[in-house]
Amino acid sequence: MKQEAIEQMEGYADIVREIDIAVKYGEDFSGEKGTVQQFINRLHPKRLNMTVSEVIEETPSTKTFRLVNPEGPLPPFQAGQYVSLSIEVDSIKTSRAYSIASAPSETGYFDLTVRRMEKGLVSNHLLDHVRAGDSLIISGPQGTFHHNPIIHDDTLVLLGGGCGITPLMSMVRDTIQSGLQRTLYLIYGNRSGDDMIYHKELVQMAEKHANFNYIPVLEQPDAGYQGKTGYITGELIKDIIGDIEGKSFFICGPQAMYNFCLPELKKLGVPKRKIRKEMFGTPINIWEYPGWPEAVKPHQVCTITVNGENKLEAVASESILVTLEKNGLVIPTICRSGECSLCRVKIMSGKVYQPQGTLVRKSDRHFGYVHSCVTYPLEDVDILL
Ligand SMILES: Cc1cc2nc3c(=O)[nH]c(=O)nc-3n(C[C@H](O)[C@H](O)[C@H](O)COP(=O)(O)OP(=O)(O)OC[C@H]3O[C@@H](n4cnc5c(N)ncnc54)[C@H](O)[C@@H]3O)c2cc1C
Ligand code: FES
Repeated sequence: MKQEAIEQMEGYADIVREIDIAVKYGEDFSGEKGTVQQFINRLHPKRLNMTVSEVIEETPSTKTFRLVNPEGPLPPFQAGQYVSLSIEVDSIKTSRAYSIASAPSETGYFDLTVRRMEKGLVSNHLLDHVRAGDSLIISGPQGTFHHNPIIHDDTLVLLGGGCGITPLMSMVRDTIQSGLQRTLYLIYGNRSGDDMIYHKELVQMAEKHANFNYIPVLEQPDAGYQGKTGYITGELIKDIIGDIEGKSFFICGPQAMYNFCLPELKKLGVPKRKIRKEMFGTPINIWEYPGWPEAVKPHQVCTITVNGENKLEAVASESILVTLEKNGLVIPTICRSGECSLCRVKIMSGKVYQPQGTLVRKSDRHFGYVHSCVTYPLEDVDILL
């Protein structure tokens, strides 16, 4: 946030005075009381009770929910961050992460754009039942998928697939609306023209702003479409952006897109440190992931024993977290994709599956803790919450 904007925030002068006094006289200003903590709570709220002010139809399978905060100002966020939405659907208390698609300069609302997922619990509920005037509970903004001027270049190559456009859209809107000195290439892959979200707005922004380049790529184009077709290959990326030097890459989309695009970027010689990728939800068809034991069928039933007493029926292809929630046991979650560590549980006995590359702290691994959102029971297991 710009220094002038910070200085204009309500309570700024009081906080500066409080810090000055604390520095001079050694007063403890870290406690719950006091203006500093109130200010921190405003910047990093744990929970916000939002109202849906508008529902915007984006594509046949996608809607944007515009959320306003009737209780006060919204916290600031970085373009690319997400919120965790807490909700009860079919008597299951659960949560899902949704990227904020609006720009940080739109301080009056957060836009969450949601695509229907076949048989998905929350996306179908949101698209079919949530209307303007309804309330939704979200966390404060989370995540590290955003441009950091210390680490990243000012030329960004944004690779989006389907609904993975949402955090990238916030970055594009941020750059245009705030007049940032950045050059953006947005390469946006979709199956068909009907799947493209924000297409008109993106075309208009690219026409008006020389520093924004928008390149849609369609797998199955309609007759008359004249743009790029096929997949986002290394060759296509190179044709568009030229040299890879001085460019940072942000990628967001379905798992299949990472499986395809990451090796393509490697072929181009893009170093790993130049690539930021967003985990966009829990793995789908987990039994197709490398290392899943062939002998274990996706719908194999087993028992999860919780804290030595509660015995829950589980299926191998559902994460431990999903089984807990289906049985009314709610534990803290934010990302639901193995990143934030909030949903840790301890495995006391029994074999589990975790997809390759799942990040677990060394000490957690040592003491048997796993991220329950990306851990699957391969046989009867005992866990401690
Ligand atoms: C950081 C982040 C940002 C995100 N941003 C967005 C966004 O901006 N917009 C957006 O639309 N989404 C976003 N997502 C994805 C979102 O969080 C949800 O994962 C998505 O909406 C699907 O949730 P759901 O409840 O509808 O599906 P779920 O019920 O979670 O199911 C997901 C899929 O798994 C399948 N499945 C579920 N249970 C089983 C089972 N037992 N066996 C086999 N298959 C099963 C379902 O059929 C479905 O296809 C984001 C995710 C992350 C992590
Ligand atoms: S909820 Fe973040 S790691 Fe599981």
